[in-house]
Amino acid sequence: MKILNSPSEAITYRKTLNGSVGFVPTMGALHEGHLSLIEKAREENDFVIVSIFVNPTQFLPGEDLDKYPRRLEADFEICRRAGVDAVFTPAPENMYTNDEVLIKAPKVKGYILEGFNRPGHFDGVLQVVNKLFNIIRPTRAYFGKKDAQQLYLIKQMVDNFFFNIEIVECETKREKDGLALSSRNIYLSEEERKRALSISKALKRAAKLSSKTNNIEKIKKEMIEILDVDELQYIAFVDRDFNYINEIKPGNTIILIAAKVGSTRLIDNIFI
Ligand code: PAF
Repeated sequence: MKILNSPSEAITYRKTLNGSVGFVPTMGALHEGHLSLIEKAREENDFVIVSIFVNPTQFLPGEDLDKYPRRLEADFEICRRAGVDAVFTPAPENMYTNDEVLIKAPKVKGYILEGFNRPGHFDGVLQVVNKLFNIIRPTRAYFGKKDAQQLYLIKQMVDNFFFNIEIVECETKREKDGLALSSRNIYLSEEERKRALSISKALKRAAKLSSKTNNIEKIKKEMIEILDVDELQYIAFVDRDFNYINEIKPGNTIILIAAKVGSTRLIDNIFI
């Protein structure tokens, strides 16, 4: 497995590849969720490239950039075992200059929900994904549905900037008890982890209720009763294009939650 430490190394390596390239962008601390993206990429492409880059521009001041888990050697081993051809792991100074051409997330859908709670977050995500796509020039890129708004905005960027890349949406991986896998779960104490479970439980209950009623207020009320979090940032009902909806539309609804348990911010969702 090749380790590519700079954009120029990655660009040179990419030129040697003849065939389809599956790309899995990550910030490392790889877990089963990432592994499922890598495995799908492995099945569907001649070559698989994973990037590991804790992108500073998508963290807001005061967020967990410095303490974000970094486990490069363990991540390399996971990638090696999964048959990854190359890992791209650049240093921030090789990815950014001081005064850059910037990319802005769309004014509405980039600044609601996650974008409202983390203003500027999606500008940073789209900027780095744009750079990564230009460096790796993948045939297909793999993203998890847990970051549903990110996935939606990346698809929009691909359309708006005419990238010739297929975006592959992958199901959220969960622990046996339902907790959505996230690199941030390691921040949770045992007691917090138990309470964090109430997020997936509330979503599961919402999905069940949605088969009986379209009434969002009724569903939301039951979700709030189940949730045992310290700070509920939002429960939202949107369609697949991230327009707010007033009632459940079967086959075209996403229910999303963002909440803090202790000091850990978690997000999860369910597609109805
Ligand atoms: O989802 C993530 O891990 C990150 O937002 C991404 C897409 C790798 C960009 O830094």
